[in-house]
Amino acid sequence: MKKRPTAAATRRNFIVKLAKAAAAGTLIPHVALAKEPAQRVSILHRDTFSFNDQIQVGLIGAGGMGNADASTASEIPGVKLIAACDLYDGRLEDIKKKYGKDIFTTRRYEEILSRKDIDAVIIATPDHWHKDISVAALNSGKAVYCEKPMVHDISEGSAVVEAQTKNNMVLQVGSQGMSSLGNEKAKELLEAGAIGQLNYAEGFWARNTPGGAWQYDIPADASEKTVDWKRFLKNYPDRPFDPKRFFRWRCYRDYGTGVSGDLFVHLFSSLHFIVSSAGPNRVMATGGLRYWKDGRDVPDVLLGMFDYPQTEKHPAFNLSLRVNFVDGTADNTYLRLVGNEGSLIVEWDKVTLTRNFSYPPEDYATILKSRQYAADYDRKKMKDPDITVFKADEGYKGAHFDHFFNWARAIRGGKSIVEDALFGYRAAAPALLCNDSYFQERPIKWDPVKLKLLS
Ligand SMILES: NC(=O)c1ccc[n+]([C@@H]2O[C@H](COP(=O)([O-])OP(=O)(O)OC[C@H]3O[C@@H](n4cnc5c(N)ncnc54)[C@H](O)[C@@H]3O)[C@@H](O)[C@H]2O)c1
Repeated sequence: MKKRPTAAATRRNFIVKLAKAAAAGTLIPHVALAKEPAQRVSILHRDTFSFNDQIQVGLIGAGGMGNADASTASEIPGVKLIAACDLYDGRLEDIKKKYGKDIFTTRRYEEILSRKDIDAVIIATPDHWHKDISVAALNSGKAVYCEKPMVHDISEGSAVVEAQTKNNMVLQVGSQGMSSLGNEKAKELLEAGAIGQLNYAEGFWARNTPGGAWQYDIPADASEKTVDWKRFLKNYPDRPFDPKRFFRWRCYRDYGTGVSGDLFVHLFSSLHFIVSSAGPNRVMATGGLRYWKDGRDVPDVLLGMFDYPQTEKHPAFNLSLRVNFVDGTADNTYLRLVGNEGSLIVEWDKVTLTRNFSYPPEDYATILKSRQYAADYDRKKMKDPDITVFKADEGYKGAHFDHFFNWARAIRGGKSIVEDALFGYRAAAPALLCNDSYFQERPIKWDPVKLKLLS
């Protein structure tokens, strides 16, 4: 056991321990058994702690992504799921089937936050609950992994940033691509000048299936008995139980953030990381509801344009994003950065660099004639390939694992989080403003440094 050291010493210690563990042939710590809740002091609040200490996690929101997050988190050595919260009983039954009957389950997240044996929470509820639960968790002394987008409305971001700063706790937002090999390689290449000067970026998500357009299955037993409907509604308008609203919450602005908050936000996170940007200062959107007219109140085709001002880190550039849920061409997604000398297509496990040099036009007839009697000639060389593909090694565990690894490492006092509350707010803001621009039918100006709406 060690005394809790300074941040720099912690980092050094952590790296030394990591190296020793790796040298010993394993990164898997010897996990201590969980002590009784009343006796156990969270790893985050102990004066002394060990690299081997178990991080005990509570899951809040045990649906599709919450389950994926809990599975990946559990793959990280020393991380253990011990509790789960959800508003639909079927989800909690599934969690017990998967993790064992001893796991604590509840419909009320407050009961997760008040437990002393829980060090950290994963928040994977619908978007309208993210801010309140994140702030309450930070104030309860828990480390947080909050799914994207960090907040549901532009006005909510500061509360999360303040709660993280005030409590000096670890919070990571769940845009997992952030931690990928692909994003890191793209950042490295851009900074090395591989595409010259950035002037434009673009991204899209194309889908064409009911599931892709959020028409998820509704369980046969869904009722007000199995679902805590009133709790789900939060402070949004009261209405009779509607399973579509509960299980397909993304289709409704009261609970979700449309295609922009669901999908654009991933591209903002990656782009801001690669380019070292705080965000755009002007946002414009258009689109429409073209096909999925199932009662939803958000568009299924959305186009967003974003102006990024020049900063110390990057030149001014434009970004164009689109989502099409009725796209007959492909089920595809894409992020491309364009500079005056080439482009980068960024995927989480692959980066494609295309370099387009411009060569002065040559008059070959004259060149050859003038060299007709020369003993030798200025022979052309073989060029480097214009397209270079960087691929992750076989067996790469992927962005999701990397993101949780980084989270657990930060909780144990290692390297600090990149996608913290401030980063998460700056990634969510243009996505949320894109919706506001669409619904208000006007461009919106935003100060991404001071986090202020300008008009
Ligand atoms: N990072 C990614 O790639 C990724 C992918 C999908 C979803 N997400 C995000 O994860 C979150 C969840 O999405 P999903 O697809 O898992 O939705 P989902 O509907 O499958 O799951 C949400 C769960 O939260 C529960 N819930 C609702 N309000 C709650 C509350 N107050 N307390 C506790 N539980 C509550 C619901 O009962 C449901 O089981 C969203 O914010 C979404 O944007 C991220």
